[in-house]
Amino acid sequence: MSKSFVVDDSDVHALSNVSFSVEPGEFVSIVGPSGCGKSTLLRLVAGLDSPDAGEVVFDRERVDGPSLRRGIVFQDHRLFPWLTVEANVALGLLKTGGSDAQKRKTARRFLALVGLDGFEKAYPHQLSGGMAQRASIARSLSAQPQILLLDEPLGALDSLTRSQMQAELLRIWQHERVTMLMVTHDVAEAVFLSDRIVVMDRNPGRIRGVVDVPLPKPRNRHDPGVLALTETLVGRLETAVP
Ligand SMILES: Nc1ncnc2c1ncn2[C@@H]1O[C@H](COP(=O)(O)OP(=O)(O)O)[C@@H](O)[C@H]1O
Ligand SMILES: [Mg+2]
Repeated sequence: MSKSFVVDDSDVHALSNVSFSVEPGEFVSIVGPSGCGKSTLLRLVAGLDSPDAGEVVFDRERVDGPSLRRGIVFQDHRLFPWLTVEANVALGLLKTGGSDAQKRKTARRFLALVGLDGFEKAYPHQLSGGMAQRASIARSLSAQPQILLLDEPLGALDSLTRSQMQAELLRIWQHERVTMLMVTHDVAEAVFLSDRIVVMDRNPGRIRGVVDVPLPKPRNRHDPGVLALTETLVGRLETAVP
């Protein structure tokens, strides 16, 4: 796919001839410097925007708009402040049919999955950053998407909460068997979680390579294989053109 934007009368090549695939059940991360088109790519996969050339094919069908089968989680939790956590999650089920009682039950099940049982009636401002992000993940998962698209979901969290949430994401991925495609600029995070890592570069936004991570999960962050791969990838990104 390619995608350009016109900014101040000139073309910004956000994505240039980007092509890759994700298998069902895989955890794939996208890493790259800011401005290399990661968010644009995720928005195209979500169907929130369309490419100038090329296409997104999901389950053998061309994507031409958003769908509950492709959930998306952003860096900011985007919960409605005037609704309880449970009501926020139930809102993700608005278009799924079923009674209100069923939706509440589903909402509770996913809140429990992300470790938020007991907080159903809390309001977003009563939650920590990590908890609010868990709620937003629960909201996306509750519609039972086939793929979850995550755009720097842990980017706003402090480092301790962040590593706890990485372990949580891994647990959820293993439990739900949902395909995950996650943007991050934290290479260690990508190595900890992913089956494959797509490395991007900017000006124009493009793929430099796709790296396999054939290490068993759960991974130990201090494992020599994990550390070596992290270092290699950081080195690669540092040699990227400015
Ligand atoms: N809606 C938009 N209008 C104009 N330019 C955009 C828009 N979205 C993204 N861009 C530009 O496209 C490039 C890639 O942006 P983005 O996908 O947000 O990168 P990343 O998420 O990797 O930081 C940047 O130069 C950005 O300014
Ligand atoms: Mg981005």
